Amino acid sequence: MPHSNDNGTAMSARTKSMIGLMVVLFVAMVIIRLNDGPERPPDVPDEELVQMLPAVEPREGYAGSDSCQDCHEHQHETWHHSWHRTMTQEAKLENLLGDFDDVTISNRLGQTVELFKRDGRAWFRMNYEPRLFIGHNPPRREFPIELMTGSHHMQIYWFPAGRARTLGMMPVVWLKEDQRWVPRQSVFLIPSGEEFASEVGRWNETCLKCHTTNPEIHKEVGGRGKAFDTHVSELGISCEACHGPGAAHVAIHGARNTNEVSQLVDRIVNPDNLSHELSSQVCGGCHSVNSVKDRKTEWREHKPGAVITETRHLDSLDREELQKQMKEFGATTYDGYYSQYDNSFWLDGKVRISGREYSGMLETICHTKGTMSCVTCHSLHQSKSDNRPVKEWANDQLHPSRQGDQSCAGCHDVGRYASVSHTHHSKGSSGSSCLNCHMPHTTYGLLKAIRSHSISSPSAMETVDVRRPNACNLCHLDKTLDWTARHLDSWFGQPIPNLTEEHKTVAEGVLMALKQDAGIRALAAWHMSWEAAVAASDGDRWMQPYLSVLLKDPYPAVRYIAGKSLRRFKNYEGFEFDFVADRDRLRKFSIQAHALWPQTETASGMSAVLIDETGKLDEIFQKLFAERDDRDVALLE
Ligand code: HEC
Ligand code: HEC
Ligand code: HEC
Ligand code: HEC
Ligand code: HEC
Ligand code: HEC
Ligand code: HEC
Ligand code: HEC
Repeated sequence: MPHSNDNGTAMSARTKSMIGLMVVLFVAMVIIRLNDGPERPPDVPDEELVQMLPAVEPREGYAGSDSCQDCHEHQHETWHHSWHRTMTQEAKLENLLGDFDDVTISNRLGQTVELFKRDGRAWFRMNYEPRLFIGHNPPRREFPIELMTGSHHMQIYWFPAGRARTLGMMPVVWLKEDQRWVPRQSVFLIPSGEEFASEVGRWNETCLKCHTTNPEIHKEVGGRGKAFDTHVSELGISCEACHGPGAAHVAIHGARNTNEVSQLVDRIVNPDNLSHELSSQVCGGCHSVNSVKDRKTEWREHKPGAVITETRHLDSLDREELQKQMKEFGATTYDGYYSQYDNSFWLDGKVRISGREYSGMLETICHTKGTMSCVTCHSLHQSKSDNRPVKEWANDQLHPSRQGDQSCAGCHDVGRYASVSHTHHSKGSSGSSCLNCHMPHTTYGLLKAIRSHSISSPSAMETVDVRRPNACNLCHLDKTLDWTARHLDSWFGQPIPNLTEEHKTVAEGVLMALKQDAGIRALAAWHMSWEAAVAASDGDRWMQPYLSVLLKDPYPAVRYIAGKSLRRFKNYEGFEFDFVADRDRLRKFSIQAHALWPQTETASGMSAVLIDETGKLDEIFQKLFAERDDRDVALLE
């Protein structure tokens, strides 16, 4: 998704006013153009409705997954269980996860959405007008749900907006684990925006790119504004998204007489047989931060087996720009410049959001100097040697013999590195796992922390310089950065960075949760229920008050994660908490949660986590909380 976080410090006043003028003109144009399209009649007969949905048919040499099933039964079956397949689906009642049994959802602005079923399909009703910006009091309208995105963690619903094949988004999202509806804005880590909006055209322009097979956006021009005549070969991510168009392959292998097909060329691609770069680019088409190269190229032009940079621009941190700005301000470290950086990346260029693993891999020496690719660890069809239930495989799609430490074994001497002389932790300790030190959970997405796919080594220097939490302190949350730096020095000879008094006396887990930006607070909240970290940091004694404070964080996503983490602690199992409640209620939840902390029994004299000899929180707690970094963060996965 296109986004940026430019606060424009380096811009002249003149450039600013020019941009301001352009924005005003652009907004005016958008309003006028959107207004000029046809409106969808309230109740459209089925035949007409179909013409208002994206067209689904194999074309341009694509054959569709049904045609592969007979010859590749095993691959088809395992794919059928994968989340890739169900990424985009028709909204048949049996596939629907959300509750449409006469439910009304309202937000604090007094807007309501009513959900119901009629004639074998799901519907919703809201105040709607076909503009980007909802006007004063638009009329109440009903829409059938026709398409949905997601099935693993959450589900999003789409309706035909009545302009060619353009879809609008139902403004509430179903959270699968929690079994509840929430405003769509609250599931992203963004400053809270609570207005119900239908984002007409968003699916056609953005989401279909990575969530369907062979999408053609086709924007209609000629005064119709946001109208799209969109076509896809298949909904969901199917065989040909990873293997390329297969019609010729099907015809060749299905032919009784070779003469019939002698003109055809079999272009089917097996990622396993490609170079490690091209193989990773098959996945990188969707699992990276990228955009089409220029106006002449289309998203679908990147095909499995092709060099991605021929048609796509791989977005990365603009380091030259960053260096230039730093030079202007006479700075030698990144410190103070983070407000300029793109939200998708840490300041050293490593990706910060999930679902963009290929961008992470491009910053990994095991890939750039070695031959690591996605299939080094992942297996996109469950291997026959994998004894797990197929649904379990589908959650990570990892190969059974390339999990944990074994994922490094192909290239590094794991025997040597797993020894205490390298890890300094006993065998079997969570602190001796290669992944826990070299692929820590420093990327954020889907309301959780996810393993970084940029292999790196723990470094206190990096934590100071680019603010990315280091693997040691993500497990030892109760220890200071100084503690980590000293061990990294004595164990690995890493230089000790200049540290502030705070870094010498206050635990990193505390600083992350109280003081850092919303993205880091989310990581801290998640790690406070990660078993390894709770065990290594004596978390049962002190984490509760920190999670209680995060329940009233300004960011809904941070509150959600904190609430979930808190429930793993004794006394909190049934704790009722609504992360999208209003400010007053959030404050009350926070106070209630704090009161449940069995402080005097468990905690006293843990000075690094600010608990004094009497088991009370030190005053510094309030001081640090007041210093919270409140710059706007938008981690758009
Ligand atoms: C009529 C039978 C038939 C159908 C239908 C069929 N295949 Fe195949 N496929 C084969 C055979 C036989 C091979 C092995 C021979 C080869 O490698 O070319 C194969 C091999 C493959 C390979 C491995 C190629 C390699 O180079 O290692 C892939 C990937 C593949 N098929 C994908 C597909 C997809 C995707 C579809 C549906 C669009 C499909 N196949 C439909 C018969 C079929
Ligand atoms: C650049 C490719 C890309 C684009 C564009 C994109 N997504 Fe995604 N999306 C992904 C990937 C990759 C994942 C898996 C993420 C992960 O594991 O972190 C994902 C995951 C999701 C999920 C979670 C699915 C589940 O089953 O729980 C939802 C919902 C989702 N995306 C919605 C959207 C919507 C809505 C849009 C458009 C506004 C969109 N995405 C645009 C690549 C993309
Ligand atoms: C998300 C990407 C992806 C999708 C979707 C996908 N495959 Fe594959 N396929 C792969 C990769 C990667 C390999 C290489 C081996 C592996 O990772 O399991 C592969 C291997 C194969 C092979 C070679 C034999 C083997 O198992 O190694 C066949 C045949 C095949 N796929 C067919 C299919 C068919 C048919 C479908 C749809 C029903 C499909 N694939 C869907 C990525 C995919
Ligand atoms: C056409 C776009 C596309 C391609 C190509 C693609 N993916 Fe995905 N992938 C997605 C999306 C979107 C999701 C989110 C699915 C969901 O969770 O419902 C996803 C999810 C995943 C997941 C997590 C499954 C889960 O829900 O937990 C893994 C692992 C994965 N992809 C690996 C790969 C690998 C490896 C390749 C290349 C062989 C690949 N993908 C190719 C779009 C794609
Ligand atoms: C060194 C091994 C390794 C390599 C290489 C690798 N992965 Fe992963 N991947 C993992 C592990 C481990 C997990 C975490 C699984 C878990 O926590 O259950 C994971 C998780 C994921 C997820 C799911 C995240 C989530 O929890 O929703 C996606 C998506 C993914 N990988 C995609 C990719 C893609 C795309 C590539 C190639 C660019 C790739 N991976 C390369 C090991 C690897
Ligand atoms: C496909 C081969 C391959 C795999 C698999 C692999 N690596 Fe590497 N790795 C390399 C190569 C090649 C280098 C560079 C070695 C050099 O330049 O001396 C490297 C370098 C490294 C470095 C040094 C990084 C740096 O910036 O200097 C670390 C740390 C590392 N690997 C950890 C791992 C871990 C942990 C795993 C498993 C999760 C792993 N590697 C898996 C090939 C691989
Ligand atoms: C995923 C969790 C995890 C990670 C990552 C981790 N450790 Fe540990 N660490 C542990 C556990 C558990 C113990 C308890 C003893 C054992 O299992 O070896 C421990 C023990 C220690 C000890 C000795 C006991 C103490 O509290 O003084 C030190 C020192 C230590 N770790 C430092 C580090 C450093 C430095 C790093 C990063 C290079 C690190 N750890 C990474 C889990 C972890
Ligand atoms: C407790 C944390 C920790 C664990 C566990 C760990 N490493 Fe490391 N590893 C480090 C640190 C720290 C460095 C960086 C050393 C430096 O600064 O030179 C490193 C460096 C490396 C390097 C770079 C080359 C070198 O020798 O310095 C490789 C390769 C590597 N580790 C592989 C592994 C593998 C494979 C495993 C699992 C068997 C593993 N590591 C487990 C902390 C860990």
